[in-house]
Amino acid sequence: MKRFQTGAILIISLLFAGCQSSPQTQEPMEHGIYVSDFGTMPDGKAVSLYTIQSPSGMKMTVTNYGATIVSLTAPDRDGVQEDVVLGFDTLDEYIAGSPYFGAIVGRYGNRIAGGSFELNGETYSLAKNDGENHLHGGIKGFDKVYWEASPFSMGSEHGLILTYTSPDGDEGYPGSLQAKVTYMVTADNRVMVSYQAVTDKETPVNLTQHSYFNLAGPDSDTILDHELTIPADHFTPIDSGFIPTGEILSVEGTPFDFRTPTAIGARIDSPDEQLKNGLGYDHNFVLSDMSDGLKLAAKVYDRSSGRILEITTNEPGVQFYSGNFLDGTLTGKGGHVAGYRSGFCLETQHFPDSPNQPTFPSTILEPGGLYATQTVFAFSTDAQ
Ligand code: BGC
Repeated sequence: MKRFQTGAILIISLLFAGCQSSPQTQEPMEHGIYVSDFGTMPDGKAVSLYTIQSPSGMKMTVTNYGATIVSLTAPDRDGVQEDVVLGFDTLDEYIAGSPYFGAIVGRYGNRIAGGSFELNGETYSLAKNDGENHLHGGIKGFDKVYWEASPFSMGSEHGLILTYTSPDGDEGYPGSLQAKVTYMVTADNRVMVSYQAVTDKETPVNLTQHSYFNLAGPDSDTILDHELTIPADHFTPIDSGFIPTGEILSVEGTPFDFRTPTAIGARIDSPDEQLKNGLGYDHNFVLSDMSDGLKLAAKVYDRSSGRILEITTNEPGVQFYSGNFLDGTLTGKGGHVAGYRSGFCLETQHFPDSPNQPTFPSTILEPGGLYATQTVFAFSTDAQ
């Protein structure tokens, strides 16, 4: 494993940050960013695994295949670091078929109905990879491509900038889209994710991070006891094909009311039409605070370990997916089986199917415009 040694770098904005210098061989004892080989893609491209070691002891590994978070440790109430995300040990397993474990999803997070949308009087047909619908960017979305990676450091904090240019017509989308994702792990146990994109033709963009979390650590096979808070008065109901109906419904009196901490499993199997349509929770929540700044999107507490995850974002929505399609057929890191509802995703984003939903906030990026969003995953414990 090689260590990137970075000196003091004057960086005005994290979004534009980037620097690296000569790698040295060293084990990841001290904080820093390290690189090792992670395998080769079918097209011959060699893929790396970057290890970001924070001064607090937290460690995140990221591969430039799909800009994927492969592992992420967080301390429990006794300071014990454990991996709190689902993933695979090898690149081949990611390539063989991953349910978007830890990946960056793009160009469009979640579904676009019928795999088509109209823009300026023209109809665009997208790749259909979820029955009749388009899901998470299509057959070869941003989760399956090679991203250029540049490690950087800011003092004792380290990160990785990943860039990918999606060509005009990619999966049916108009325009060449240059995307940039910046990951940074801070000394106070936050993972900061910044997204940027520019285009040369109008196109929908909705990038998100698809980590599956289980705060109880790798030996836990359920997330149903995790207590979840989502400060959302409304959610977007779906039909039986997971497509938003276009309504914005109140959570009041429904199993979608997470305004006060509630165990994920407390109501998940109740006889509710929306839970039936989603096969559990697989819904977009409309954050009550729709301001542009960073605000809380969700808080999750695992009582067994004491771990707390708080997610802040400047996006208007968060897709809460309770891992309903995990069925025990995938074996993840260290031989741990990814069982039914053993990981949850909280995908900060604009609403699904917005290109076909005139009442939802727009996801169209114009030439000359800058797509810029940010999400922070902050870890703490009940001992703090
Ligand atoms: C979607 C699910 C989908 C899953 C893919 C989630 O973001 O909402 O419907 O099955 O990603 O694993």
